[in-house]
Amino acid sequence: MNHKTILLTGGAGYIGSHTAVALIEAGFEPVILDNFANSHPVVLERLKQITGRTMALERGDVLDQAWVLEVLQRHRPVGVVHFAGDKAVGESVADPLKYYRNNLGGATSLLQAMGDAAQAGGPAPTLVFSSSATVYGDPARVPITEDFPRSHTNPYGHTKLVIEDMLTALRHAQPQWRIGTLRYFNPVGAHPSGLIGEDPAGIPNNLMPYVAQVAVGVREQLGVFGGDYPTPDGTGVRDFIHVMDLARGHVAALQALLGQGESFTVNLGTGRGHSVLEVVAAFERASGRPVPYRIGPRRAGDVAQCWADASLAQRLLGWQARHTLDEMCADAWRWQHQNPRGYRS
Ligand code: WQD
Repeated sequence: MNHKTILLTGGAGYIGSHTAVALIEAGFEPVILDNFANSHPVVLERLKQITGRTMALERGDVLDQAWVLEVLQRHRPVGVVHFAGDKAVGESVADPLKYYRNNLGGATSLLQAMGDAAQAGGPAPTLVFSSSATVYGDPARVPITEDFPRSHTNPYGHTKLVIEDMLTALRHAQPQWRIGTLRYFNPVGAHPSGLIGEDPAGIPNNLMPYVAQVAVGVREQLGVFGGDYPTPDGTGVRDFIHVMDLARGHVAALQALLGQGESFTVNLGTGRGHSVLEVVAAFERASGRPVPYRIGPRRAGDVAQCWADASLAQRLLGWQARHTLDEMCADAWRWQHQNPRGYRS
């Protein structure tokens, strides 16, 4: 067993690839498992350019449990980070069964394979799970702490909530599992090299990539979803967190689990909210380009405000986000400008 190998399911994706960089920086050895359904093989080359390391790639579907067991027995990772899954809220409403099958089926397949590998003499099953602030539904107030009630407003968020419950049930049945659940707020930005970044297929659902595409000239103008929320400027407020801060949060989570081993659930956010219009202004400063917008009707399912109380992650993991909104926009702009068509550039 290599005491430093970490398996990243969905490791060629946006959060996964940035986490691979942070893991290398921390002395770990990432192995990437990906079917490239929502990512691109060129990411591996970009990771080599950034880190100087060729990462092992296992190309396949996390739903293939027998194959996942083979991968675990081949690499004997000391920990697994589970990113693989579908994550588009709107798509999950239109095609719920795809989400229940891929996200719940993928998690179940991975967990059973990890349990089988541990029983066959592997390391104690250690997992970091990529959850989401979406499990808080429409919070009664902000900032949000981890003990807030959970609910879901769409099948994507429902799958995150159900997987969290699966992990709780698993830990009760098999206390030897060490599990860190990370509830992401709004990941944005890119590695400062501009070599890896967020590469949404088609029209971006999320704010930052859409703003970046307007700034670079790929799209005409931003549609702001609602200007009449009970917020300082009437537009939605979110906790935007730099993807490299998020990546370092995964390293801190693994180090905690591999150290004292207690399981935990923490928010990964900055503890600050910014409005849509604040993001537009910051992006114009960072890019030097205008971001024209028009304010339109609210988007169904959106909440007015959502930002984290990030103090538990600070206490448990010694982690906190460091990057400012301007830095997030500067790094997002560099990625967009250097890769106008993402990895297909
Ligand atoms: C942010 C703000 C919009 C686009 C979602 C998922 C969450 C996670 C992150 C996966 C809101 C406004 C957006 C646009 C806009 N995804 N907006 N015009 O909805 O907070 O979170 O993405 O893990 O689970 O729920 O992020 O970037 O879509 O929206 O005005 O074209 O920007 O109304 O106020 P959201 P977002």
